[in-house]
Amino acid sequence: MSYLGMSIWLILTLFLVLCLQGKASVPAIIVFGDSSVDAGNNNQIPTIARSNFEPYGRDFEGGRPTGRFSNGRIPTDFVSEAFGLKPTVPAYLDPAYNISDFAVGVTFASAGTGYDNVTSDVLDVIPLWKELDYYKDYQKKLRAYLGDNKANQILTEALYLTSIGTNDFLENYYTLPRRRSQFSIDQYQVFLLGIAKKFVENLYVLGARKISVGGIPPMGCLPLERTTNFMGGSECVESYNNVAMSFNDKLKGLVEELNKELPGARVVLSNPYPIVMQIVQKPSSYGFEDTAVACCATGMFEMGYACARRNPFTCMDANKFVFWDSFHPTEKTNRIIADHMMKTYLSSFL
Ligand SMILES: *[C@@H]1O[C@H](CO)[C@@H](O)[C@H](O)[C@H]1NC(C)=O
Ligand SMILES: *[C@@H]1O[C@H](CO)[C@@H](O)[C@H](O)[C@H]1NC(C)=O
Repeated sequence: MSYLGMSIWLILTLFLVLCLQGKASVPAIIVFGDSSVDAGNNNQIPTIARSNFEPYGRDFEGGRPTGRFSNGRIPTDFVSEAFGLKPTVPAYLDPAYNISDFAVGVTFASAGTGYDNVTSDVLDVIPLWKELDYYKDYQKKLRAYLGDNKANQILTEALYLTSIGTNDFLENYYTLPRRRSQFSIDQYQVFLLGIAKKFVENLYVLGARKISVGGIPPMGCLPLERTTNFMGGSECVESYNNVAMSFNDKLKGLVEELNKELPGARVVLSNPYPIVMQIVQKPSSYGFEDTAVACCATGMFEMGYACARRNPFTCMDANKFVFWDSFHPTEKTNRIIADHMMKTYLSSFL
């Protein structure tokens, strides 16, 4: 082989090796949080925070109500698909799945929960610290199933996603007197941030390196909040949106701090606020007809059991609505949110 040929061959080989290495793989999606990312864990615990009945899931595969708080899939399902993994991320407590499924994706999320233990107590759901306990249990099962080496590799290269915090404000701080008597809203945010920080540090110690911390949406624009704002013409509750923005700003600072503090880790803030706000402000540009009220029942306040099967008011075509029930987006909105998350925050993990 000529000298030149040899060089070209070498360069080509190097290029190939670099390409293969550059194809950073995410072998699994591992999820923590609240109803925005629960796929049915609450079905297995005694709580009223459920959605494993019709009309929930009516646009899911097989029209199956799984415990997802939507008519179809939720954002983490779409994220999993975008990473070339399965089209859905199953709930850890769902007996229909086992460790061979969870090896590529699992959610420990629980509808109604929050960073704060007081929040998870309101509806007797899984507190965040217990979601982490389940994750430790998962690690053991994964190692038993795949062996230490393969399991550890998956645990290191997996993408960890959190989506939590809205309930701490709406279900807890602004509804019950306890935290409000202890903390100003700013102090409460700092309190939650401390829990978020500890949570990510714990994940890191357990082996996580690719972590997306979820921000919170413009929660003043959830139909339930708009309904209670009848004095304000059922517009979005601006004060709640301001709290969401300032909490997201603080989370951004936390993420920067964590990236400095945790060597080898990559932490990003996945902030749903801007995209959800854009949808709510210009629903028609996304093909939606309604954003102030939800599809299910009257759309003004129902969720969970109140979103009953034969309610004559429930809409025919959920794709025309931004929100499925008074607190949760439709599948169509979830897809737009997930696409945006992929493009804006998660593509660096692809
Ligand atoms: C998981 O479930 C599948 C199908 O239900 C079964 O074939 C498989 O053996 C199970 N795997 C483990 C590790 O339990
Ligand atoms: C929440 O409860 C758990 C279990 O009792 C406890 O370990 C943890 O410290 C509590 N978190 C906060 C922030 O109080």
